[in-house]
Amino acid sequence: MLTKSTEEILNPIIQKYQHIPGNLIPVLHEIQKQIGYLPPEIQEHVANQLKIPLSQVHGVITFYSFFSSTPQGEHSIGVCMGTACYVRGAEDVLERLQDELQIKRGETSADKRFTLTITRCVGTCSLAPVVMIDDKVYGNLTPEEVPQILGQY
Ligand code: FES
Repeated sequence: MLTKSTEEILNPIIQKYQHIPGNLIPVLHEIQKQIGYLPPEIQEHVANQLKIPLSQVHGVITFYSFFSSTPQGEHSIGVCMGTACYVRGAEDVLERLQDELQIKRGETSADKRFTLTITRCVGTCSLAPVVMIDDKVYGNLTPEEVPQILGQY
């Protein structure tokens, strides 16, 4: 069940795109920008208002990695698991990040500061293994460097 204040955020966005073909992605984008993520009750509201199946809304959210149905941390950490990074030790870096943050991939730290995800090749293979924190690239990473890098945030 949505609160009145959440509905007051969602409905103008939905109305703005109501009659525009291909409206689902822009609607979800704007809502995520405002609310931060797209929980099941919001997905249901969007489906009802746009008169489309809930499975379609859910499908789009799970297909595109920039949509999230869970709350995101203040900083997003993406560990590249492309081939170059994988063979140069990305898994060890990921393990250290998981240990330091006490979370698994796909989760957000208890203090809501970091969300840890896996990415495909980010195009800087010469720096493998690579981790991105927000828009910043950290290359040639060793697990030992992880605590110091996290400390910068
Ligand atoms: S495989 Fe990691 S940057 Fe290309």
